[in-house]
Amino acid sequence: MTVKELINKLAVSHSLTAQEYRFLLDERSKDDEEYLKELAVAARKDIYGSAVFVRGLIEIGNYCKNDCYYCGIRRSNRSCDRYRLLPEQITECAKQGYSLGFRTFVLQGGEDPFYSDGLLCDVIKEIKKLFPDCAVTLSLGERSRESFLALFEAGADRYLLRHETASKELYNKLHPEGMSFDNRMNCLKELRSIGYQVGAGFMVGSPYQTNAELALDLKFIEDFKPDMCGIGPFIPHKDTPFASFRAGTLKDTCFLLSVIRLIYPSILLPATTALGTIHPRGRELGILSGANVVMPNLSPVTVRKKYELYDNKICTGEESAECRSCLEMRMKSVGYEIVTDRGDIKK
Ligand code: 5AD
Ligand code: FES
Repeated sequence: MTVKELINKLAVSHSLTAQEYRFLLDERSKDDEEYLKELAVAARKDIYGSAVFVRGLIEIGNYCKNDCYYCGIRRSNRSCDRYRLLPEQITECAKQGYSLGFRTFVLQGGEDPFYSDGLLCDVIKEIKKLFPDCAVTLSLGERSRESFLALFEAGADRYLLRHETASKELYNKLHPEGMSFDNRMNCLKELRSIGYQVGAGFMVGSPYQTNAELALDLKFIEDFKPDMCGIGPFIPHKDTPFASFRAGTLKDTCFLLSVIRLIYPSILLPATTALGTIHPRGRELGILSGANVVMPNLSPVTVRKKYELYDNKICTGEESAECRSCLEMRMKSVGYEIVTDRGDIKK
């Protein structure tokens, strides 16, 4: 089969073998990429029209007990200026976000025992009490089943936990001993069984990654069917062991966004901040490849620079206090419109 025939097959059956995904990644031409993009955008338009959903991202803290080799807030990074937002500061961000029209709040942070179940449950309950029409999403790494359950019962609706890579071998090259691929996958299954809407995801172009591994990621998305899939280019951070590796590319990330859109047409796909960091119009180009979510930063401007997972992260300066209006304009410039509802997946 040619690449084009495989793309047609994917558009109809929403499934390929890992070998076929790999063939697609290895052999695609520029024409194939354009063709795939058209099908992906059409598939997304059928379901979501020209709507782009927004999530207000609140980076609650950058303490982390993990030591992932790629990440700027890893435990061993002594140059990282650490901070924690207190419950009142988190709800304050949500209040500001609500008045800006956000109806989903994503509380994201490193793995930090300071954020106990008790503390988080109180924050979640408070936000849900103030704003019952909003969804609360958590992105706080691996926790126990009991913890996931307690947070869900307190009112959390969604949980984002990127699987990072569907290859155990690659997982072990990106993480130190003590972090476990099996535990990560298990967390995703627990989250789903508890009733969360679940987000998975992976980095594109991370060190040692090959197309064979990306093919496994695609197969994983096809099998697990997460409600959301966050993908963005790997970008080196100067104070990590991966400082001297090259960043992932816009072209590869956009191609993968299109493939994932065809695998699971109704999936929520963010055009990530990392994509906006490697190219001035990266997020717009992500939307034009099939993405349908953007996640403007709602964190207090004073902490934004500190939540630096990779070098040169955008939206961290004084001028970016208003990511919401910036993205509104950016989406308009490519013919899309930001909508203000919870933006649940249409199944
Ligand atoms: N480049 C790109 N993405 C990164 N992440 C962490 N470090 C980097 C980096 N250097 C991503 C991981 C993590 C998410 C919060 O950010 O995939 O799950
Ligand atoms: Fe943050 Fe444009 S979206 S400054």
